[in-house]
Amino acid sequence: MDPVVLSSTLRRHLAGPGPIVALTGAGVSAESGLPTFRGPGGLWEGHDPVQLATPEAFARDPLLVWRFYAWRRASAAAAAPNAGHRALAALTGARPETRIVTQNVDGLHERAGTPSVLRLHGSLWRLRCVAEGDEREDLRDDLAPLPPRCRCGALLRPAVVWFGEALDPGVLAAAHAAVRQAAVLLVAGTSSLVWPAAALPEVAREAGAFVVEVNPEPTALSDDADEVLRLPAGRALPVLAAAAGAAIEIPA
Ligand code: OAD
Repeated sequence: MDPVVLSSTLRRHLAGPGPIVALTGAGVSAESGLPTFRGPGGLWEGHDPVQLATPEAFARDPLLVWRFYAWRRASAAAAAPNAGHRALAALTGARPETRIVTQNVDGLHERAGTPSVLRLHGSLWRLRCVAEGDEREDLRDDLAPLPPRCRCGALLRPAVVWFGEALDPGVLAAAHAAVRQAAVLLVAGTSSLVWPAAALPEVAREAGAFVVEVNPEPTALSDDADEVLRLPAGRALPVLAAAAGAAIEIPA
């Protein structure tokens, strides 16, 4: 495999001062064996999001929705963080002002060792009572019997953001603040089609960040990025993190 070569401009930005922020999407977990959403083999090709990832779907058929999320929890639990997740964790260790903003709900950044992740779309590992609104972590392998219920008797739902729902305003505000302060924004593994996450690279650019896309395929962001690496995240992120000062082994 050819080594990943970074331009001198990109190296200069990565070696320079200021926070590096990563905005990640499903593609970052693809090399861990988890499917992305769009495109061939994507989750939304085999499943209709309106039937599975909306508040209306949950009100209509909580068991169906929970079967989908129980399967996703099992898949995520069986997956391991890959070189891309580990590279971002190492970068956070080397440069503590690094922030990771993710659209992923699988928990793999955290399992790779990144302590504090801004999770725009929530987490598969948190449940929320539909009556009381409180959230709790729940790492159980098996939530049977489905659908799970709160102690109060009401249904529990996955604490993820569904279509038609607003993001947590505190998390979104923190993500905006992080990208506004970024010297470099690494946008990895996202089609940049889902809002408001898709607005963050432009917010970063307007505030002066150097925006780098990591994605094997062209996306809605590609034309506006300062640099594009057409590579899988597991190959590109270790090289980028090492150039930013992380002590990292580059996979052959
Ligand atoms: P998508 O499925 O829309 O896009 C995944 C992107 O990852 C594509 O652009 C792929 O080319 C790219 N990709 C695939 N393999 C890759 C690899 N090894 N390395 C890097 N990139 C790779 O996923 P997202 O953009 O994350 O929202 O989707 C955004 C949101 O839409 C999700 O959070 C989810 C979904 O509906 C909710 O559920 C609210």
